[in-house]
Amino acid sequence: MLPVILAASLLAPAVAAASAPRHVVPRGDGIVRSPIRAIPDAAPKLRVRQNEVEVENQRAGTRYAVEMEVGTPPQTLTLILDTGSPDTWINPSCDTANVPSDCRSFPQFDSSESTSFEQTTVRDILRYGIGNATIRYALETLTLGSATIENQQIGIAIESHMIPLGILGLSPPLNGVNDYPYVLDTMVDQGLIRSKAFSVDLRGVDNPTGALIFGGIDTGKYIGELAKLPMLDRLDTPLGADRYYVTMTGIGLTLPDGTVTQSEEIAVPVFLDTGSTFTRLPTPIYQAFAESFANAQYDPESGYYFVDCDVTELEGASIDFYFGTKTIRVALNDFIWQVQGYCILGVLPDDEEPILGDTFLRAAYVVFDQDNRNLHIAQAANCGTNLVAIGSGEDAVPSSTGQCTELPTPTGTAGGLDVTSTRHLTNTFTGTARPTINEGPGPAASRGTSGGDSPEPTTTGSPGTNAAGRGVELGFGAMVTLGAVNLLAMLLL
Ligand SMILES: *[C@@H]1O[C@H](CO)[C@@H](O)[C@H](O)[C@H]1NC(C)=O
Repeated sequence: MLPVILAASLLAPAVAAASAPRHVVPRGDGIVRSPIRAIPDAAPKLRVRQNEVEVENQRAGTRYAVEMEVGTPPQTLTLILDTGSPDTWINPSCDTANVPSDCRSFPQFDSSESTSFEQTTVRDILRYGIGNATIRYALETLTLGSATIENQQIGIAIESHMIPLGILGLSPPLNGVNDYPYVLDTMVDQGLIRSKAFSVDLRGVDNPTGALIFGGIDTGKYIGELAKLPMLDRLDTPLGADRYYVTMTGIGLTLPDGTVTQSEEIAVPVFLDTGSTFTRLPTPIYQAFAESFANAQYDPESGYYFVDCDVTELEGASIDFYFGTKTIRVALNDFIWQVQGYCILGVLPDDEEPILGDTFLRAAYVVFDQDNRNLHIAQAANCGTNLVAIGSGEDAVPSSTGQCTELPTPTGTAGGLDVTSTRHLTNTFTGTARPTINEGPGPAASRGTSGGDSPEPTTTGSPGTNAAGRGVELGFGAMVTLGAVNLLAMLLL
């Protein structure tokens, strides 16, 4: 059967990136912690019950953000935390943001007030799932949590579209080559953390703030062992972009009575993206999921599935993601967005680059280890704080067991979930009004890999200052196509 063949090729261990030994003496304890908060959708909500404001706000949160101080003296800015892009930039154009008033409610950086601001003449265009930014690079001092990063290259937007906040990018360079030292690189070079690794705890609907921890993990925020999942080699990813891709091996639902329905074994490459509001899965999986909900209404125009807002009857139910022997269960409560009076299942179809976005990440504790090319994941929980540093070298991420209590194990099997065939959709949304969702930026388009839409940056600076790796034509177009076709074939069989 095809899924097994594909599984074999995708599960081949990724080649570990050979990282040169670093001789920087760490400053402090090598751990930098910064709170993450969910930013509620800016549009007015139609139904907010008084006693549930906190929860409602969280459930409507469509983006996760961190605060970063920029300049000298420091100016505090709010940035979208994005594991789907590598560049960090600030000052979006609010007039052309998706929701201008939302954009204007956040402070912008005033470079004339900073003594450490150093403008360059180098420009670039950054493209994301939902919009783009034309930026000019500068060197600046950044403060994240307790860490001060000096001379970091960041973008200052000249013009941006559809994006309401600046972005803190923490992905690997998408085409495998650094264009310049990104924030994570500089933190290691300046001895703030010991390896290019950080952990993310977004938190579910009933917790106001999660945390981003550079160079450390918090064993008080997950259950059991962290499972080590190799990141897919860049050339094995669906579009040949180096992202935090791992292989999802199954998907299913736990029903309120504790029984599970589960797909057969699959091997779907998915990447973990804090900058994507929704989880995006290949069409047959997306349909199988959504059609498991009695009364779910499919809206052909937006791709959303509208579901009943009253999920009390579904207490205890979860959507389950399998990664080999590790299962992450996302409580239904965390998987349904409540926006402007509608309740929307947090999944959309995507047959090109499947994404586990915020609706998944709220339930997972994830350590992103770029140096060793592994992700470590466990079921998120909250039972206190116990920070453990990530060192350097192969076993840098400690295999510390989470201190939180196990979830009850499902009690039985309720049947299989067929995720291999597309379905004929019956229950279609007939309304005319739809919510406008102020989504996260979505993944960055990889430079030099996106055929057609001119990835050439408008570099006006002296050649070579900053353009290392830019516009390099990568010769793996055929491979990319093959990968996408395989994936589709697998799912359609
Ligand atoms: C950015 O997006 C806007 C709106 O979609 C578009 O009009 C503009 O041409 C894009 N800019 C670049 C540089 O791609």
